Amino acid sequence: MTVLVTGGAGFIGSRVAQRLLHSGQSVVIIDNFNDYYDPALKRANIALLEGGAQVIEGDIRDSELVARVFAEHRITRVAHMAAMAGVRYSAEQGRLYAEVNTTASVGLMDEARKHDVEVFVQASTSSVYGNTDKIPFVETDTPDWPLAPYPASKRATELFAHSYYHLYGLNVTVLRFFNVYGPQGRPDMMPIKVIDSIVQQQPIRVYDGGQLKRDWTYIDDTVEGVLAALERPMGYQIINLGFGAPVALTEFIEIYEELIGKPAIQTFVPAPLTEPQITYCDNTRARELLDFEPKTGLADGLAHTWAWYQAHHGIT
Ligand SMILES: NC(=O)c1ccc[n+]([C@@H]2O[C@H](COP(=O)([O-])OP(=O)(O)OC[C@H]3O[C@@H](n4cnc5c(N)ncnc54)[C@H](O)[C@@H]3O)[C@@H](O)[C@H]2O)c1
Repeated sequence: MTVLVTGGAGFIGSRVAQRLLHSGQSVVIIDNFNDYYDPALKRANIALLEGGAQVIEGDIRDSELVARVFAEHRITRVAHMAAMAGVRYSAEQGRLYAEVNTTASVGLMDEARKHDVEVFVQASTSSVYGNTDKIPFVETDTPDWPLAPYPASKRATELFAHSYYHLYGLNVTVLRFFNVYGPQGRPDMMPIKVIDSIVQQQPIRVYDGGQLKRDWTYIDDTVEGVLAALERPMGYQIINLGFGAPVALTEFIEIYEELIGKPAIQTFVPAPLTEPQITYCDNTRARELLDFEPKTGLADGLAHTWAWYQAHHGIT
């Protein structure tokens, strides 16, 4: 069995690849190492795989390359993690997000169904739920009012995935991740930005007085869910994958202040239009279909993240 991990140099993809390699599976990665954030971090993620995976530096929008990868590597399962993943950046880059997150994903599904792939796991996002006060978010809630091109592109891909299941019987499991954080985390996301700002004693922009709530999910829990989904062909499924306990940013910052032993310098600004008030995951379906049980709460997860950051930056 060979698993194709797209975006395998990224935060979540590299951790998925690492776990697959540890369990003895053969892994092929496609990643274009783009500079949305520092590609050196992506190279460092790949280095942690210690040469275990076959890494193809290329773009999922390159349909010839994608066809060749499926043909030459006898791919049996796909963890499709590659994407342009920043929400706010997407506001200015609608076309790019449509091309990478939607069109290229459809190209991958095309190859997957031609090569009788057993399971295609599609990374989606809690932001498809938009701004709603119906909490917690359940998979049957309306996902039709995205606040930015990013969730729009992910929702469109969910719909294409259904058509590939319907027409070709491709098993697609869509996982809606909720605010993933942890060691090797993305530097454009709050969990790393807050540490950067506290360590450097630089101001951090905090939306709506720190009252926006997010359902932070520790990376190892998310990866556990992806691995379970890769093991289980289930037709077409959409499954939330989150911790299930939203926390206001104020509280999140307080945990870091305590851990780091310095105050955060906060500049309060109104939230941009791309930001929902809350994300809040109902995990019932993940529990039923994937035996998913998130283990790491926020205080422990942020402590692990801070410990990694210290080691990574040589801070004692
Ligand atoms: N981190 C989160 O909180 C979160 C939440 C919801 C959904 N997701 C989704 O999970 C997946 C992984 O996210 P992440 O946080 O690891 O992001 P990431 O940016 O660290 O990883 C994505 C990887 O995809 C690669 N990539 C982007 N465009 C590509 C292209 N055209 N061709 C080849 N490779 C390309 C990037 O170089 C990067 O290494 C994404 O699909 C993202 O939308 C993440």
